[in-house]
Amino acid sequence: MEKEKMKWPFSDEKEIEQVKEVLASDSWWRGTGKKVLEFEKRFAKYHNIKYCLGVSNGTHAIEIALKILGVGKGDEVIVPAFTFVSTATAVLMCGAIPIFCDVSAETFCLDPESFRKVISEKTKAVIPVHMAGNVCDMEKINQIAKENNVKVVEDAAHAQGGEWKGNKVGFYSDIATFSFQNRKVMTCGEGGALITNSKELYDKAYLVHSVGRPPGDIVYDHLVLGSNDRMGEFQAAILLCQLERLENFTKIREENAKKLLLNYICLFDYLFISS
Ligand SMILES: Cc1ncc(COP(=O)(O)O)c(C=O)c1O
Repeated sequence: MEKEKMKWPFSDEKEIEQVKEVLASDSWWRGTGKKVLEFEKRFAKYHNIKYCLGVSNGTHAIEIALKILGVGKGDEVIVPAFTFVSTATAVLMCGAIPIFCDVSAETFCLDPESFRKVISEKTKAVIPVHMAGNVCDMEKINQIAKENNVKVVEDAAHAQGGEWKGNKVGFYSDIATFSFQNRKVMTCGEGGALITNSKELYDKAYLVHSVGRPPGDIVYDHLVLGSNDRMGEFQAAILLCQLERLENFTKIREENAKKLLLNYICLFDYLFISS
């Protein structure tokens, strides 16, 4: 990457072309446009998951996920003690109580054994957060969750394309949610998504995120109670370009991480061992 282009958010002429296309169309919302649909298809495919729903942001994505899993008043949802506030506030927005468990000191991700310890009769779901792109031990978390009849929602706000044992995020859970806010690894300023292999959950999420209206509705058919959490066509147009670059940018980040780690080890050695 050239030095002058190392700014964030990164964009080039591809984003400009995509946004121009939406501007020239009469379709700036998903109701009549094609960009959100196209992005959802590509984002789902990239994660080897059947369904994706683009939404307004990562906070709403978690709220929708909990709602469609039936989380409500009287329920408890286990969240890691170290995360962005939305992981816990989404639980409160559903009328449930967030219960905190510890994170690993090495990865800052939810510690499976600490999760096991705080499970109660009221536990309905757990939200492992892939902190800063570090993917949680999803196999163990999923196993503990299954043993205790607990639903799993991965908060993958930081982990687009992240993997655990060769499987991309979303593989081990009921639903995984993402943020495309300005500082995330791919961004459209504000945006979010959820992915799932369940057609039933996808259909429910669609209704809830679109004021209760099914896809293609033109007769104001509000089937369930829901808010307007739809992604717009401009956001999706930008995300299509960002997704195309994600694989390459991830490689660059991994190379940079190795260099930073090496510098850190050298500094540690200089300060505490050699001196
Ligand atoms: C771990 C985590 N979850 C959820 C969110 C919420 O995402 P958004 O800002 O798109 O609502 C964030 C945002 O920073 C986050 O870091």
